[in-house]
Amino acid sequence: MLELINKEKIPKHIAIIMDGNGRWAKERGKDRLFGHQHGVLSVREVVEGCVEAGVKNLTLYAFSTENWNRPENEVQGLMELLVTTIRKEAETLSKNGVRLYVIGDLESLPQACRNELDEAMSLTAGNTNLNLILALSYSAKWEIIEATKKIAACVKNGDFPIEAITDEIFKQNLTTANFPDPELMIRTSGEHRISNFLLYQLAYAELYFTHTHWPDFRKENLYEAILNYQNRERRFGKISEQLI
Ligand code: FPP
Repeated sequence: MLELINKEKIPKHIAIIMDGNGRWAKERGKDRLFGHQHGVLSVREVVEGCVEAGVKNLTLYAFSTENWNRPENEVQGLMELLVTTIRKEAETLSKNGVRLYVIGDLESLPQACRNELDEAMSLTAGNTNLNLILALSYSAKWEIIEATKKIAACVKNGDFPIEAITDEIFKQNLTTANFPDPELMIRTSGEHRISNFLLYQLAYAELYFTHTHWPDFRKENLYEAILNYQNRERRFGKISEQLI
């Protein structure tokens, strides 16, 4: 399917809500962690798929602020999975020219997890094929409130007046300041929600929903989503005739 994709119209940034690990596991009579473990293979597939298609930025919603409320064994299992996966995959990421970033309330993550992430981020810092951005302990409302606090502090400090607050200033204070806004947002497993993910940045994103559970998501599913995106008309509030 890769050959059907128009290389001139590749989304610069794809964001994914990886949903359905729990249901996938339940359908197989296994516990939820079994689903998350299989979800790692799908992560590898989409990372490779993005490199092959020429997507430059990929954000994966790996753990939300609300996920801290899940049963303790699941939270702990997810954190351990994250640490072992990063450790195992860091070399491969580097070989494929992937640079790792993390967004979210990182101070709330276990120290072992932060150390592993820091190491992987340094190791991959020189890579330019793909920015892989993991949203961890992330929620968009948290991010917007943090940005507002930073901007308010600048105004209070006399760095700039209230009137100077623009979309650009706001973007610079979000955790995604280094990246363009996602043009395509994919959510797996049949739910039609944004669930506190990149609320500011998704303003003009095309939304793509699939019934496939995350552990079954493969490169071909990614390419299908990109093809679907390429067949849409993006008007940004204008009319069709103005786009020609
Ligand atoms: C949502 O499925 C998935 C998660 C909360 C965790 C996603 C984590 C991974 C795929 C593994 C680690 C990732 C990386 C980047 C190394 P769910 O549990 O909400 O599924 P359900 O809706 O069926 O219950």
